Amino acid sequence: MQKFKLRKAVFPVAGLGTRFLPATKASPKEMLPVVDKPLIQYAVEEAYSAGIRHMIFVTGRNKRAIEDHFDTAYELENELEMADKHALLSLVRSVQPNDMNFSYVRQPRSLGLGHAVLCAEHLVGQEAFAVLLADDLMVGPKGGEPVMSQMAAQFEELQQSIIAIQEVPAEQTRRYGIVAGDEVRPGLIKISHMVEKPAPEDAPSRMGVAGRYILTPAVFEHIRNQSGGVGGEIQLTDGIAGLMRDESVYGFQYAGKRYDCGSKEGFLEATVELALQHPEVGAHFRNYLENLQIGWSGKERRLDKSL
Ligand code: G1P
Repeated sequence: MQKFKLRKAVFPVAGLGTRFLPATKASPKEMLPVVDKPLIQYAVEEAYSAGIRHMIFVTGRNKRAIEDHFDTAYELENELEMADKHALLSLVRSVQPNDMNFSYVRQPRSLGLGHAVLCAEHLVGQEAFAVLLADDLMVGPKGGEPVMSQMAAQFEELQQSIIAIQEVPAEQTRRYGIVAGDEVRPGLIKISHMVEKPAPEDAPSRMGVAGRYILTPAVFEHIRNQSGGVGGEIQLTDGIAGLMRDESVYGFQYAGKRYDCGSKEGFLEATVELALQHPEVGAHFRNYLENLQIGWSGKERRLDKSL
């Protein structure tokens, strides 16, 4: 069998971002910055670290800012050059390394994540590909590999579809694709069940799908054959569940942390934690938090009501 090489990543970015209104009224939710970088750049950098060079965006109306972000900013670069601001110039240019390629395709209607991935089929072709949901900001373990790199290493060996999974609280199964299966080695399960957003009483386990996938091209046919799943949408989860009838699909418990930046709470958590680690502002921010007159009241560590 011919060996798959992971070269392409699909970024579904057509979603409306209603959970972040009014911020996302005129700007794409993927351009919301965590400290100083937009969410989409974190995801693109993660794919790049995993050796992926062709970035495919499934975009929609009001998403032009994403294309501009990964394009040359001629006026800005020129101004920085004239002003001898070389550090800033290379920062701006580093967003778009010379060996990174971009393709854009539109998803004309919000028909679901599966449909978004299907919109990229002609650009992916008969290759294995990654899917990264930029709402899920994934941070690898300290000093360790980013999550997509961990998955790419597994894929290199298994040559079968791999989905990032994490344990989720029982009452939150309705937010995730949920998988169940047998552990084949520590941190890796062979999936036998996969269902989108089940009620806690119907969930086959508490293993939730995080927004990182490596899929074989056979998945396209299974997405196409669906009539519509949860919420009347064409779900990627259902396509993968179909693929499982023909091929093995694995769930991979990655090392690292996921921030659900599609929610305000997760976005704030990411902002605080990444700011603390940031080389430029981290020390100042840590000092600021330490001196903030929040004050813990009582044993339960509730925040003082005055703040
Ligand atoms: C999507 C997927 C879901 C997955 C989740 C991860 O849902 O459909 O299976 O668990 O991403 O973030 P969404 O969050 O887009 O509703």
